[in-house]
Amino acid sequence: MTKKMANSDWHPASWQTKSAEQQANYPDQEALESVVSELSKLPPLVTSWEVDALKEQIARAQRGEAFVLQGGDCAESFADCTSESIVAKLKILLQMSLVMLFGMKKPIVRIGRMAGQYAKPRSADTETLDGLALPSYRGDLVNRVPFTSEDRVPDPQLVLRGYERAALTLNFVRSLIDGGFADLHHPEYWDLDWVGHSPLAAEYHNILGSIADSLDFLESISGRSFDQAQRVDIYSGHEGLHLHYEQAQTRFLERRNRWYDLTTHYPWIGMRTAAMDGAHVEFFRGVANPIGIKIGPGMTAEWLQDLLRVLNPNNESGRISLIHRFSAKSIDDCLPNLIRAVKATGAPVLWICDPMHGNTETTAEGIKTRRFDNVISELQSAFRIHQSMGTYLGGVHLELTGENVTECTGGARGLTDTDLRRSYKSMVDPRLNYEQAMEVAMRIAGLRDNN
Ligand code: PEP
Ligand code: CO
Repeated sequence: MTKKMANSDWHPASWQTKSAEQQANYPDQEALESVVSELSKLPPLVTSWEVDALKEQIARAQRGEAFVLQGGDCAESFADCTSESIVAKLKILLQMSLVMLFGMKKPIVRIGRMAGQYAKPRSADTETLDGLALPSYRGDLVNRVPFTSEDRVPDPQLVLRGYERAALTLNFVRSLIDGGFADLHHPEYWDLDWVGHSPLAAEYHNILGSIADSLDFLESISGRSFDQAQRVDIYSGHEGLHLHYEQAQTRFLERRNRWYDLTTHYPWIGMRTAAMDGAHVEFFRGVANPIGIKIGPGMTAEWLQDLLRVLNPNNESGRISLIHRFSAKSIDDCLPNLIRAVKATGAPVLWICDPMHGNTETTAEGIKTRRFDNVISELQSAFRIHQSMGTYLGGVHLELTGENVTECTGGARGLTDTDLRRSYKSMVDPRLNYEQAMEVAMRIAGLRDNN
């Protein structure tokens, strides 16, 4: 036990002495505790080897040698744990990363918002309909979508169901990848159905052709096959919001002499739960994973410096990514000051742009959406600002799907507010559809006109 004293005032449940924002209010505490104890005995979802490998990749991106692509649903749902849905998420991430690799000439580190993105922060604790106030839906890990008091009561059993769904998802992803699904020689495995006559389809297929040619060329001059060398990894990430879930899968690795949160490779602290004296900062300061911190317009220079000091006291490379999400309008006002604040600390960070969460708006009909132009505009500003300040924008964080949904307006097909009704499936935030996501990838890769 003495080994565990390194961080003697921290343990996986020490967060419980702090105030925790955005937690479910479980009516039956005993039932919750028995779930935490059961989950503490079940095997971890990921391994410390994988977590350390990702941290190394993020350290590379911090040095400007790689680029991180994070993407997936705003909220995964248990019902969507199907082979079609998992394959579609994998395909879009693989296709986007291929396009980005081709255009940026850098390794792309892929992190799915998947296999655990089941808990959501909400702006209000309750939702009222026809005079009835019920707890807000907080994600499938906590309660259920239908508006009945039975469905909305937080149910601790859902924590176990979430763990199982995450395990099923990871198991399928790992098998697909081990079986050769992600082999760069066979990008045709990842083809999604292009909708109609997409102008992007031709562009994408041209890129595939060029990559196949370069692979053939490299293999013929080097005399070896790149099967292994080109092995694609996909890491998982989710918002580390539900602290009982994270706590129960946190294990001490004697070999490393550190604690790891093994629900996922890459947890992040959401914007609403980054208080210095709050439970989330307390929990995440004790685990060795690479972590993200979402930063928005309310973040101050001092607060950010405090977060870096507490969450990465030894300035370890690969540990911290700062995922900024301001809005197309306010990024110019907010970002430079925070870049200066981080530079002043000398701490290594990876800057990632989330061009989604600052740009959410509600249509006249009350539907949540995002305009593609605002997403692109925030991204372009992010690249420009980092370049002008001598920092490296090393990643992008997107809400997207491989499906042909209509949740964000604009894009190559010019979707309008009235199109939103046609195929709006997200339970929480609007996602880029397949074509919109590919267009973002092409623009990041510098393969499309940015006007
Ligand atoms: C999210 O990523 O879905 C989210 C809620 O983000 P943020 O904490 O940045 O608002
Ligand atoms: Co979201």
